[in-house]
Amino acid sequence: MLCSRISKMEETILLSGSPEDIAAASELIRNGNVVGIPTETVYGLGADALNPDAVKKIFAAKGRPADNPLIVHIYNIEQVQILGHDIPDLFYHLAEKFWPGPLTMIIPKNDIVPAETSGGLDTVGIRMPSHTVMRELIRLSGPVAAPSANRSGYPSPTAAGHVMRDMKGKISAVIDGGESRFGVESTVISFDSENTVRILRPGSVTAEMLLECADNVVVDDAILNDIAADRKAPSPGMKYKHYSPKADVKIIEGNFDNFCKYVNSHEEQNVFCLVFDDDDTDKLKCRFMTYGCDSESQAHNLFSRLRELDDLNAAKVFVRSPEKDGVGLAVYNRLLRAAGFEVIRV
Ligand code: TXA
Ligand code: MG
Repeated sequence: MLCSRISKMEETILLSGSPEDIAAASELIRNGNVVGIPTETVYGLGADALNPDAVKKIFAAKGRPADNPLIVHIYNIEQVQILGHDIPDLFYHLAEKFWPGPLTMIIPKNDIVPAETSGGLDTVGIRMPSHTVMRELIRLSGPVAAPSANRSGYPSPTAAGHVMRDMKGKISAVIDGGESRFGVESTVISFDSENTVRILRPGSVTAEMLLECADNVVVDDAILNDIAADRKAPSPGMKYKHYSPKADVKIIEGNFDNFCKYVNSHEEQNVFCLVFDDDDTDKLKCRFMTYGCDSESQAHNLFSRLRELDDLNAAKVFVRSPEKDGVGLAVYNRLLRAAGFEVIRV
């Protein structure tokens, strides 16, 4: 039942979340094509996780290095044992508490997962997303491999329009499932031991929340620091430049008065500030945008603001440093990477 509208790839079709359009998207995926898909974290580029040729198309569309593995998205808990083995009890406890939702867990992979999907690693990252459109798509299609749907290195997309802008002509279709609820990618964890998890990428399932199930939660060094040259990255994504808009992003840490004093001394062209909703913006001399007043709203807005700033040709963006606990750690981590880990203290 392939929509007659869906023909050549150059025409990247915009689909809705209707049952007919989800069925059409699923047929595209089962036939080895790539589709832009909505999830509750960010939009993804989805393909059949078990089909190496389909997965290669994701890497080509994104311009992603082949050694950076893809997360496999599943519909039900039974699919975990098809994909991986040596699964600790803690995995199931966390799945019960946080799935469907924004948590990716890494376990040793089974042979059924192609090396293309796992970036040549012997592990696989698995996530059960909660977005209803995505769930229906996976139910119809089987496990779906999906990285964030941005061009490699660029901010992740949180709306179908962002995906269209980055991927038009490179993929078969995009499903519009509305704005992504959380706005930052899933929390990625691995297991150091039976009862210790390691956070490789912070997200909306926070360290504090994981501690309700695990005895220990280790926040990997690479979350707050550039990965040391002599260290093998526990997650290949840590090695690559990320989330960078065209503008030069600077994180400014300090109170709002000192922030203003610092940024108001910069009178170059196209300087912008990204501040909190409740900051007294009358004190700013340059143009500004706001990105929320609590960690959840900042997570929700961050990537779309970075894209809007690019659209305005911002050359430099001074960002108010967010809180670093809870979901704030995810916001801070994405900003650190956008800023090349440089923080200015005022
Ligand atoms: O919320 C999300 O996780 C989104 C949506 C679409 O589900 N996906 C996403 O995928 O952010 P991606 O590929 O942009 O980021 C996945 C990160 C990468 O940094 C990758 O290196 C890491 O997870 N990763 C995936 N599988 C891994 C594995 N087996 N071992 C270590 N790191 C892994
Ligand atoms: Mg990504």
